[in-house]
Amino acid sequence: MTPETPKETKTDACCQTGDVAVVDAPPPTTRRHFLFQIGIALNVVAGALITVPILGYVMSAFVKKFDLEWTNLGPISNFPEGEIRIANYENPYRRPWDGETARIPCWVRHVPGGTFQVFAINCTHLGCPVRWFAESKLFMCPCHGGAFYENGDHAAGPPPRPLYTYEYRVNGSNLEIKAGILPNIGNPGNPTEKVKGEA
Ligand code: FES
Repeated sequence: MTPETPKETKTDACCQTGDVAVVDAPPPTTRRHFLFQIGIALNVVAGALITVPILGYVMSAFVKKFDLEWTNLGPISNFPEGEIRIANYENPYRRPWDGETARIPCWVRHVPGGTFQVFAINCTHLGCPVRWFAESKLFMCPCHGGAFYENGDHAAGPPPRPLYTYEYRVNGSNLEIKAGILPNIGNPGNPTEKVKGEA
């Protein structure tokens, strides 16, 4: 006769009369079970990393967008005809802690004939600030050697598109642009704006 396997026993508080309750011992945590739980946790994290940006993209359609505001760049006389000059404007949505970063530079081209082009400072490759070189008549990007012609068209290097431009207007004797967010691929300003007579 084989001896009976002993079972774990516990005396409950309820069992005042000497009854003995039989309970099963909890299964021990095995290494396999532990790794399985880690796997589930990693899957949850990976799922969140994929889902959150997609949700953000979808929800952004329902979130109120910034309205761009006409913002003064200064008197037209600051921008001589035929030249390209840097200008700074105050971000219309500045917050108290923005400090100097609320002052945003841009390039103004006064095209012969009286029209303007106002270029965003950010390169259309990865956003480094471009600089105008009057001698070579090129905007150059210091990061990866991108270059743009004076009308903003791509000349060389990795940038995939022309410089972004701001919408502008002449208001009295001042030049104004629609500002609020930097022009970018989602808000390219007037990306195909061309000046008459130019290629
Ligand atoms: S950021 Fe301008 S070329 Fe790359």
